[in-house]
Amino acid sequence: MPSTIFEGMTRAISELETVRPVGRVTGASGALVQVSGLSGAARLGDRVSLGLSQTRRTGEVVRITTGGLSCLLEGAADGVYLGDPVVLCARRAFAPNDSWIGRVVDPDGRPIDGRPLVPGAHPRDLRTNALPARIRRPMGDRLATGLAVFDTLLPIARGQRLGLFAGSGVGKSTLLADLARGVDADVIVIGLVGERGREVRHFVEDVLGPEGMARSVVVAATSDKSPQLRRRCAWAATSIAEHFRDEGRQVLLLIDSVTRFAEAHREIAATAGDSSMLRGYPSSTGPEIAALCERAGPGSDTMGDITAIYSVLVAGSDMDEPIADILRGVLDGHVVLDRDIAERGRFPAIDLLRSVSRSLPVCASPAENTLIAQARRHLGVYSRAELMIQSGLYTAGSDPDIDAAIACAGPLEAFLTKRGATSPSLVFDDLRRALSASSQSERRPTPKQVRRFIQN
Ligand SMILES: Nc1ncnc2c1ncn2[C@@H]1O[C@H](COP(=O)(O)OP(=O)(O)OP(=O)(O)O)[C@@H](O)[C@H]1O
Ligand SMILES: [Mg+2]
Repeated sequence: MPSTIFEGMTRAISELETVRPVGRVTGASGALVQVSGLSGAARLGDRVSLGLSQTRRTGEVVRITTGGLSCLLEGAADGVYLGDPVVLCARRAFAPNDSWIGRVVDPDGRPIDGRPLVPGAHPRDLRTNALPARIRRPMGDRLATGLAVFDTLLPIARGQRLGLFAGSGVGKSTLLADLARGVDADVIVIGLVGERGREVRHFVEDVLGPEGMARSVVVAATSDKSPQLRRRCAWAATSIAEHFRDEGRQVLLLIDSVTRFAEAHREIAATAGDSSMLRGYPSSTGPEIAALCERAGPGSDTMGDITAIYSVLVAGSDMDEPIADILRGVLDGHVVLDRDIAERGRFPAIDLLRSVSRSLPVCASPAENTLIAQARRHLGVYSRAELMIQSGLYTAGSDPDIDAAIACAGPLEAFLTKRGATSPSLVFDDLRRALSASSQSERRPTPKQVRRFIQN
């Protein structure tokens, strides 16, 4: 540890700048400030510091033209003067290391849990290119999650990227925390983007708890923070996940939520004057989301993998809403949570028929795939006949498929809430037992068969 501190100090000293170009504010409107004098020195995305020490504020370069820079302030622009000095901030070293595990940091790598944090020796960029597809492994084995539904019907494979789609208050965050506690991984990185401040503390202290935090790094930018900080939160979490992956560890990355990331991007783009809107979002939103999600996934031969789960807020369960639509195309599966299911108290409130894991059929054996198909068929038949069954219009015995679906509806519903199983084979045994109720009903003769028997 001492050598890490000295390495960090040596690097920080070597990066000290003795000469810094100074620009001047030439105009301001809202949080957008025009700056001259830094055009040759600033790059897009660089941080700037504006004003004198008492009133200093920071911002991000969002546009560069021959006439100067446009910088988006992190916070209100009240009190900015024409001619205020502007300097480029030294690039803050974002250098995760093992001491970050168990800690809560902001997107700049500063601790926000009240204890000092030693940065690592090797700074990383917040935005990087995804690994080239040719050096990546395929998705790995199925991960044990501690939740029966994910261990069987919706498997999560190592290096898979899944979306968790739901309306507000249907249980996205709670399910992510369950996965953080239960999934078999070396390190968990959790990006909380645009959550309410109270929720971050609740998530860390009560939902994750000491057991979940012992192998987690939480990166948080609450809803009151600037859009730049909220957008950086998803990049920072992914960058930390990449650090541990490069060290050969198996990483679970959870981002709650990508919708807030996209909204932060929209706010930044709108303030910077991007008018190329596509279904209410700037046209750069799709590429930004794809670039973020592509950074997760399987690593190369010498690396670990980043298995990632992104929560997506879908207003009114509209899966064609732009962000949901973009993500479904980018990810390797989607899990849909349903408000009606949550309202009848079944958690996790997964609508299995609308959820897909693209690690199937490869990550399950032929016998397991048969069980999965059987369970889906029964749930599908039950769902189509549910109105008839609930309203008493269905006469038992008139359709063997519906009879079988009714027989195993209860056991399957109970199975979908099961948690804490030890091995995948035991969980599949539970599923087999839940489905066995249908085979008992299939053995009962239908009224048609009884009539034919009597006539003969
Ligand atoms: N596994 C569970 N068991 C019991 N209740 C649950 C469970 N999951 C969610 N809930 C109930 O649903 C509420 C909302 O859950 P949660 O905060 O996880 O939803 P969310 O989708 O993340 O909401 P938001 O959109 O506001 O972020 C919880 O306060 C709790 O009452
Ligand atoms: Mg939530």
